[in-house]
Amino acid sequence: ARTAAVIPAAGRGVRLGPGAPKALRTLNGTPMLIHAVRALAASRAVSLVVVVAPPDGAAEVKSLLDAHALPERTDFVVVPGGGTRQESVRLGLEALPPEYRIVLVHDAARPLVPVDTVDAVIEAVREGAPAVVPALPLADTVKEVEPAGTPGDPEPVLSTPSRARLRAVQTPQGFDREALVRAHASVTGEVTDDASMVEQLGERVVVVPGHEEAFKVTRPLDLVLAEAVLARRRL
Ligand code: CTP
Ligand code: MG
Repeated sequence: ARTAAVIPAAGRGVRLGPGAPKALRTLNGTPMLIHAVRALAASRAVSLVVVVAPPDGAAEVKSLLDAHALPERTDFVVVPGGGTRQESVRLGLEALPPEYRIVLVHDAARPLVPVDTVDAVIEAVREGAPAVVPALPLADTVKEVEPAGTPGDPEPVLSTPSRARLRAVQTPQGFDREALVRAHASVTGEVTDDASMVEQLGERVVVVPGHEEAFKVTRPLDLVLAEAVLARRRL
């Protein structure tokens, strides 16, 4: 089965602070989106990459892709995104030709994911899981709280889930394309990842080992870490 990657890159990056849309910010001189596209196209299994651009930025993203060296065996398509990540992913899925039966969804904001992680996700989908997520054990203990009405107020703790059973999930998440399309057509509530939509359909979702370099660039300190990782790789 052929495998495509959808890369949602339409977010503003509010938590990163003022500036260009997050995916277009540079890491050691190269836009984050280009790092992310290269990371997915590095997998020999991925033959199509659909980039979901900021709503008014599709032309700019197309010229960025043209300006950077990318593998010739991979096709690239750019579509404009939507107001939420969920909407952007749906718009990306609509651009997929029918022959792609496996689809990866990968945040442009995780530009440094190693190809071995990408391949491990694809392999688990090929082996029959409808949804596969890379994930890592947590370093911190997590508390469930009653959120404060006023920011900064003390918050009562309700429970402490056993850390050994928790995982922090990353991308690329891999799917049987049909299962993901069905999830996007039927799940309406707020979600923060694609696998949870497939979970809501009652489908089996499995976790495979993630990688610390697949962290999400969210806040300014993450830019420092990403550039240090690239420097260590000499990129
Ligand atoms: N994303 C998207 N369309 C949106 C919102 C987010 O394609 N309307 C993408 C982002 O570009 C990013 C990924 O979803 O690659 C993960 O989202 P996040 O890290 O939250 O990025 P932003 O939404 O851009 O950041 P923030 O929430 O800080 O504004
Ligand atoms: Mg966001």
